[in-house]
Amino acid sequence: MIPGPYRNLALIGFMGAGKTTTASVLASELGWEAIDADAAIEQAAGKPIASIFADDGEAAFRELEERVIGDLLQRIDTVISLGGGAVGSPLIRERLRDGTFTVLLDVSPQTAWRRVEAEAGERPLAVDPSRFAELYRERQPLYRDAADALVDADEMSGLEPLLVPLCRAGAVEEMPRLVHPRRAALVADRAVLRLVGAPVEPLVTVRLPPGEAAKTVAVARQAWTRLAELGLERGDVVVGLGGGAATDLAGFVAAT
Ligand code: S3P
Repeated sequence: MIPGPYRNLALIGFMGAGKTTTASVLASELGWEAIDADAAIEQAAGKPIASIFADDGEAAFRELEERVIGDLLQRIDTVISLGGGAVGSPLIRERLRDGTFTVLLDVSPQTAWRRVEAEAGERPLAVDPSRFAELYRERQPLYRDAADALVDADEMSGLEPLLVPLCRAGAVEEMPRLVHPRRAALVADRAVLRLVGAPVEPLVTVRLPPGEAAKTVAVARQAWTRLAELGLERGDVVVGLGGGAATDLAGFVAAT
């Protein structure tokens, strides 16, 4: 379900991105466990985050955060939601690169502020709007650098965010790394493939007619035949690329 050799999934992003809610929805879809890093930190400290900041200071909070998250990122089959400032730690960034599929919930500063304002008092760094905006700007490059995938988190409400496709610029080029070391075939909409440009080496490619025309038994038969010719087996990976029709067909041929 998660491409490549990943043992867990981390949700990163600014305060108010919806990480905690998304983690529990995602975990129940995956049949995994959800853990909220802030809750684990509060448990380790025996008090709420606001009290850690007030009693011990931000540096003490960051130290504890680094230790707790470092441990959480060792867990398998777990969705871990990280506090908005966790990517400030070089150690956590290094751990994220090592076997964790990292998803950025990308929220605009306006939406983030609107959401955290509604929970005033819970977040020590969401008190002054101009400091909030400054932190947002400072952290953007860190989030983008740490993420394997990005989800637009502005529109999310309640429990709906889950099935937003994971996408970001450069994801296609990274596919070989994401599926490695398994063999993979790309089942793709021909028109989308043209936009992507060069073939995704070393993935072998099955080209589909654009749009809904892909969803026929004849096309599925061609795809099965091609995958069989290429020698793909059960343990290999089929990556669907395109719009809904191509990815539906890719899922169908992979599962049958
Ligand atoms: C923080 C974000 C908070 C919490 C702490 C510090 C930050 O988590 O870890 O208040 O520095 O952005 P959320 O992002 O879950 O609100």
